[in-house]
Amino acid sequence: MNLEAMRKISTITTMILSVALLSCTAPEKKYKIGVSQCSADVWREKQNAELRMGAYFHDNVELRFAAAYDDDARQVQQIDSLVSTGIDLLIVAPNQVATISPAIDRAYDQGIPVIVFERKTNSQKYTAFISADNYEMGRTMGQYIATQLSGRGRVMEVMGLKGSSPAIERHNGFMEALKAYPQIEVVATLQGDWTEESAVSAVTQWLATSAGRQQAAKGIDFVYGQNDRMAMGARKSLGGGGVSPRFCGIDGLTGEGGGIQLVCDSILDASYIYPTHGDQLLQLAVDILDGKPYAKETAMMSALVTRDNARVLLMQNEDIIRRSHYLDQLHTKVNEYIGEIATQRMVIFLGAGVIVLLLAVMVLYYLYHRGKITLRRERVVNNLWNLEEEKETVSQQVYPSQQPTPYPSQRERELDTPTREDLQQDNQNGDSAPQQGNQYNESTSQQSNQAPLPSGGVGGGLQVGGGLFITRFKEVVESQLSNSDLSVEDLASAMNLSRVQLYRKVKSITGSSPVELLRTARLNRAYQMLMTTDKSVSEVAYAVGFSAPSYFTKCYKDEFGMLPGETREG
Ligand code: FRU
Repeated sequence: MNLEAMRKISTITTMILSVALLSCTAPEKKYKIGVSQCSADVWREKQNAELRMGAYFHDNVELRFAAAYDDDARQVQQIDSLVSTGIDLLIVAPNQVATISPAIDRAYDQGIPVIVFERKTNSQKYTAFISADNYEMGRTMGQYIATQLSGRGRVMEVMGLKGSSPAIERHNGFMEALKAYPQIEVVATLQGDWTEESAVSAVTQWLATSAGRQQAAKGIDFVYGQNDRMAMGARKSLGGGGVSPRFCGIDGLTGEGGGIQLVCDSILDASYIYPTHGDQLLQLAVDILDGKPYAKETAMMSALVTRDNARVLLMQNEDIIRRSHYLDQLHTKVNEYIGEIATQRMVIFLGAGVIVLLLAVMVLYYLYHRGKITLRRERVVNNLWNLEEEKETVSQQVYPSQQPTPYPSQRERELDTPTREDLQQDNQNGDSAPQQGNQYNESTSQQSNQAPLPSGGVGGGLQVGGGLFITRFKEVVESQLSNSDLSVEDLASAMNLSRVQLYRKVKSITGSSPVELLRTARLNRAYQMLMTTDKSVSEVAYAVGFSAPSYFTKCYKDEFGMLPGETREG
């Protein structure tokens, strides 16, 4: 196991951890739902808020809102651009019946499910339609007014946006109801556009005409605004003219200024709840996207609001508001908890990652260490036997007639003087002959069967030009291997060098100090003896100059990664 392999394994481990980390936090696929509102007013705001709240229960929903402010061209452009952002489903309240249909058809033709809500198109290209019954609302309001007037009186209607389906249906239902009351006269059917201002100006203009003035002078009993805002606009215009009819509208919103409160305060005579039910709308969208069964046409429940039930409805609504606030708070809290859990999960995961990395490093280190021991063992065996041949080759090539090994020149010796730091390090390395010498005994000299010094492994290999010097050094070391009193000074003087020069020279050629080489030579000899003789470990230890077998065992283990006793077994 080399450094490269270790690097590879740690890279792979890091990659696995990163992938696991990413997959841990990978966001789930979200349904992108586009909501195209024809207008922007309190009724639409309430519905959008309910849609958002509905989304609390669906983590996988992302809502994209657009409001066209009663502008057909704008709504067409908004639908096209919602579709181009890659929505999965379109919810649309078309401003007018005919004008928005082409854009809705385009979305539908692209395979995007379409929910048309509250206002209709003139196309069949939609997935589901959901609304309260506008015709029924108009009919109920007509019936209510006729009843209030006991079947006799003068009535004004202010219609919503021309061409929008609720305006058409609310009118048709209203007129249908009045058919049964011939004594009720519809003095004017004015055109508004769902806004209060449109009613103010429609009524003002009507009053400005002579026919309008004449009719008003005769007295108007009831004004039917097709929504509460227009009923209030008509009230503003007619209230100042000395005419005091009763007013009713549609929408029946809750809250300050909403239809229910206005009825409760006797500002409006009646209203009709036009349900927003954004949460129900969202559930329908999710059911469609989930492939669950759904109704193609859904009629929302609705109800007339009069003075009789307005207070109860307000009370119930207060309760609903309290609950939705509570739900909002819960949602915020849940979001906070989810955030905390996500952080904790990340911390735990990172912690686990660090532990895994540590384990991996430990395993790698273990493998590396084992590999090193095996290598060392192989190296030792190689050194022992190959160097013998190498040595012979060198001797034959350079000293064919067994000439004495040349010693370094005076110039060489001067160059070899080590620095003070070198010596300090040498001392730290234990290159102190007397200290080291104490570990060896005076055993019997073993001149025969001597092991050679290692080349490649011990000191990093012989350098060019150092071969002859080291060969000579080995000869000197090996000849005195069993001498436990052998000091570096002895070796130096045998080499005709000072202790410092010897250190410098040996270190520069082999990378090891003379003491290290001496110890290695003793241990190599021990290895050889263990392999080739029947001597006990203690005998071998004494034979190679160690005075304490236990210390020998320790040094042997450090050098070869195995106990002396294991050598024979291996
Ligand atoms: C809201 C609104 C309501 C009305 C409905 C008709 O935008 O104008 O007041 O009842 O739309 O579609």
